[in-house]
Amino acid sequence: MKAVEKLMKVFVTTKLPSEGMKILSTSGVCEVSLWESDEALPREELLKGVQGAHGLLCLLSDKIDAEVLDAAVHTGLGVECIHYCFSFDNSTCLLQSLLLNASTINLAAGPNLKVISTFSVGYDHLALDEIKKRGIRIGYTPDVLNDATAELTVALLLATARRLPEAVEEVKTGGWCSWKPLWMCGYGLSASTVGVIGLGRIGMAIARRLMPFGVKRLLYSGRTVKADAAELNGEFVPLDTLLTESDFIVVSCSLTPETQGLCNKAFFSKMKNTAVFINSSRGAVVNQEDLYEALTNGRIAAAGLDVTTPEPLPTNHPLLMLKNCVVLPHIGSATSSTRGVMAALAARNLLGGLQGTEMPSELTF
Ligand code: NDP
Ligand code: DGY
Repeated sequence: MKAVEKLMKVFVTTKLPSEGMKILSTSGVCEVSLWESDEALPREELLKGVQGAHGLLCLLSDKIDAEVLDAAVHTGLGVECIHYCFSFDNSTCLLQSLLLNASTINLAAGPNLKVISTFSVGYDHLALDEIKKRGIRIGYTPDVLNDATAELTVALLLATARRLPEAVEEVKTGGWCSWKPLWMCGYGLSASTVGVIGLGRIGMAIARRLMPFGVKRLLYSGRTVKADAAELNGEFVPLDTLLTESDFIVVSCSLTPETQGLCNKAFFSKMKNTAVFINSSRGAVVNQEDLYEALTNGRIAAAGLDVTTPEPLPTNHPLLMLKNCVVLPHIGSATSSTRGVMAALAARNLLGGLQGTEMPSELTF
């Protein structure tokens, strides 16, 4: 039997779909401490949980900065969470589920942390410079969520453009009277111009799904021309051209210092007043005060957001009072199968990093 003491320590900041947990539990290389609560992991628990860890599996909501990385090198006094130890003999996997507290666990001291595996494709929550300085590897989950996220973005675009939440509300509250030619009219994709900001993996998957609706022109902006765009006759244009000519604008770029606050007053002022704005990237790409103003003064027609600042958006937030704004709770990749595949990929990335071998999706930075 392998000595439990030799197993590497891993902190997982969330309940992981079983596809991921199974991979970790049968690996024979790690013992897992897990934050097993429906509440978001409090910062102090992250700082405690990471102490002495060789591997960290985190979410996009866990800000991994110098403070967390420094905490990782301290001797841990434990964390109140479910702790799984996996040990093996020839044929048996023993799973012990122990509730540990400060008095029952003493993690090893030292700069152990080898790998951070994020359960997301976005990595704007990771302080890359600090992580690089410490020689820690990063795993993430590109590609496996393209379809789910693109599908959700299209659903959000259609719901926003055709005013679905507002229409459902009218049915429920008696606002539906006789059939009227001008009631509940929205905007259609047929013969429209769609502009995608950030035609990356997900942006391209969105564009591929939108074109069959009869879209006439696809414009995109970003840092580089995309070879794939040719299949859809996509035109690489300056941002200003995209803003002035598009009927639908979809934001699917990554959040970087350059894209933070990109969608601001000047941005909205260049859009058509009949245009629909959709964001499924990160909330911080949008200046929400400027968006609110653009939506209330008729500067733009409507907005659909799958991501906001903060998350969750307070229930009394002004954007939630608007009929022409549809807000979803960051569910782009939320299909059961996608989350299962993401969990498996995140677990494999973690194991590769722990063992110093290839990671299926390693971020090079
Ligand atoms: P990619 O890296 O494939 O695409 C990101 C795109 O952003 C690239 O095309 C890049 O263009 C573009 N970009 C970078 N900087 C700029 C800029 N200054 N202006 C315009 N475009 C820019 O990533 P993915 O498509 O896999 O994911 C994109 C983002 O979607 C993630 O980072 C994440 O934030 C978000 N996301 C949200 C989900 C949700 O649930 N709502 C689900 C999954 C992801 P270039 O290549 O030219 O640099
Ligand atoms: C990501 O992966 O970055 C999304 O925001 C959640 O799937």
